[in-house]
Amino acid sequence: DLAPGDGVVVHVRGKATAVCRDGDGELHRVSAHCTHQGCVVGFNSAEATWDCPCHGSRFAPDGRVLQGPAVDPLTPVDP
Ligand code: FES
Repeated sequence: DLAPGDGVVVHVRGKATAVCRDGDGELHRVSAHCTHQGCVVGFNSAEATWDCPCHGSRFAPDGRVLQGPAVDPLTPVDP
């Protein structure tokens, strides 16, 4: 039950999954493991982004890269 603009990391079938409802109310599920070196991202509620604590990569709710060093998007996860 996520409000628009909220995100949380949950474990789905043993995998850390980043779940976020965007401003339009659409739910996105992507792997929570940063595509740079695999750290688990955290939700930045001020910016509605997934931020990696290790080297500062940032991702959009749908997993797109907003800021490197990561170059690949977060991996989509099937519902
Ligand atoms: Fe995420 Fe390096 S592991 S930025």
